[in-house]
Amino acid sequence: MSTVIEDIIGRKVFNSRGEETIEIDIVTASSFGRTSAPAGESRGKAEMVYYPQGGVDQAIEKVEELIAPELIGLNADFQEEIDKILREIDGTKDLRRIGGNTAFAISLANAEAAANSNGLLLFQFLGGYVAHELPYPLGNVISGGKHGQGKTPEIQEFLVIPHGATSFLEAAAANTQIHRRISDILKKKDKLFCGGRSDEGAWIANIGNLEALEALTEACGEIGNELGFECGLGVDVAASSLWNTSKKAYIYKREGEKRDFGEQLEFILNLIKEYNLAYVEDPFHEEDYQGFAELTKKANNCLICGDDLFVTNSERLKRGIEMHAANAAIIKVNQVGTLTDAWETIEMAKRGGYVPVMSHRSGDTCDWHIAHLAVAFKCPIIKTGVVEGARTAKINELIRIEEFLGDRAKMVDLQMP
Ligand code: PGA
Ligand code: ZN
Repeated sequence: MSTVIEDIIGRKVFNSRGEETIEIDIVTASSFGRTSAPAGESRGKAEMVYYPQGGVDQAIEKVEELIAPELIGLNADFQEEIDKILREIDGTKDLRRIGGNTAFAISLANAEAAANSNGLLLFQFLGGYVAHELPYPLGNVISGGKHGQGKTPEIQEFLVIPHGATSFLEAAAANTQIHRRISDILKKKDKLFCGGRSDEGAWIANIGNLEALEALTEACGEIGNELGFECGLGVDVAASSLWNTSKKAYIYKREGEKRDFGEQLEFILNLIKEYNLAYVEDPFHEEDYQGFAELTKKANNCLICGDDLFVTNSERLKRGIEMHAANAAIIKVNQVGTLTDAWETIEMAKRGGYVPVMSHRSGDTCDWHIAHLAVAFKCPIIKTGVVEGARTAKINELIRIEEFLGDRAKMVDLQMP
């Protein structure tokens, strides 16, 4: 089967928020691969620039004029080589010339084209025979912060992780039941609740942070008891969105609270203790490595995860590991550009004792590639929502992978700190 790249096609499509995004087809003599790029709403400052000036149209021109002539004729099997060429063509650190999302879509489409041309599924092609472990799904069930609207909680995401489940299907089912149970609880807590949902399919309600955590505790407890395994709670504070540089404080508008570093630390530590949180993402703003480190030292039995802090960037993660800033790192391939960049960060995370958490973006497409990446690179957790088409595309693909693996499938060994 020939894996030589014969054509590269770029087109404009839309993500789940209705924003324009780039989709790439990489065509080989025997098959093809297709990927469309996601987009964040609460982006880290150190992320790649998504598109050149002129947006998706300009990016497609770059694909046709600059990129396709360099890549056509090369072998799609050589992923690192393809990714290196993309970086060389661009020549900037933040990929502003061709666009980080352009590099992302070409890189992933190439990996899929290579897998298909070799007659393999993407996770087998990237991970080989040893890839047989499924991640735990971490799902957003209540939205706030930049993802909510109006009088929603300041914390951006209230999450569930059914870490006692013994199969992926069982874990995914638990998340959907918790999501449904939460809506019953919200109807009682918010008289105006009428079933509104955010980009990620999580509920939007006129409640505060603590009420959201109470709803989560109730739903996780009840469903966990019914199913007979533990369902943990988590939050993504997305604290950069709350941070006010001139006031040097985190502003909680709904609560009417202003918290300086010490108060924020105490607030988060209390939440971890009070609600037995298993996972906390971005508890401090994206430059506060020291703050992260103090929390990580003091928090017990809880994953402290950097998203905006690390932006899947190996240089930023290296600093974090040296400072013991966290014990988990979000992996969003389009934050950093290419598959090779993301893979290097995952490897570094594992060497440093960090849990890599493969993640969707709030504006996503029905692409299911991250499901394969999580299995191929043995990420213990995948953060990809619970309901909404772009989220279920990934969850359903993991159900298919689990079925495909048959007796060899097993849930990854999730070591809590
Ligand atoms: P996003 O954020 O809107 O940038 O995708 C999601 C997250 O903070 O995890
Ligand atoms: Zn986040």
